[in-house]
Amino acid sequence: MNRSGWKGVVLTSVVAITVVGCSQGSQTDSSQGESNETITVDAAKAEASYQSNCMGCHGQDLEGAQGPSLQKVGSKYSAKKIETIIQGGIGSMPAQVSLDPKERKNLAGWLAEKK
Ligand code: HEC
Repeated sequence: MNRSGWKGVVLTSVVAITVVGCSQGSQTDSSQGESNETITVDAAKAEASYQSNCMGCHGQDLEGAQGPSLQKVGSKYSAKKIETIIQGGIGSMPAQVSLDPKERKNLAGWLAEKK
């Protein structure tokens, strides 16, 4: 062990600040098609999208029904991946094409927080 001479403290700071703001949206951010960087999740909207598009198969409280439970989906998939699943379907789940890209992204971000 030869550590003298190093005045080094190796500071590995992994700063993972995820600020998910709850902006009460009168501001609609326009035309952010694919970027994954700023997801501001509007939970109320996400829940509404969930209820009209997913609830029938994934349960009222994400507990699962015909489809699997999504209560911990965020520890399995990233928001991006969930978006892809919504967009393209997975296994026996059909693509959910009635969500527009913004809605899909918001919903995916919301689900990604379910851990
Ligand atoms: C017609 C029924 C149906 C609808 C509607 C539906 N799903 Fe699914 N979903 C499924 C089934 C079935 C699976 C399992 C697919 C497989 O693995 O074969 C699944 C799987 C998933 C998975 C992967 C879960 C895992 O643990 O692997 C996610 C995420 C998901 N659905 C999200 C959604 C979202 C979000 C919506 C609404 C936008 C939605 N689903 C709407 C039936 C549905």
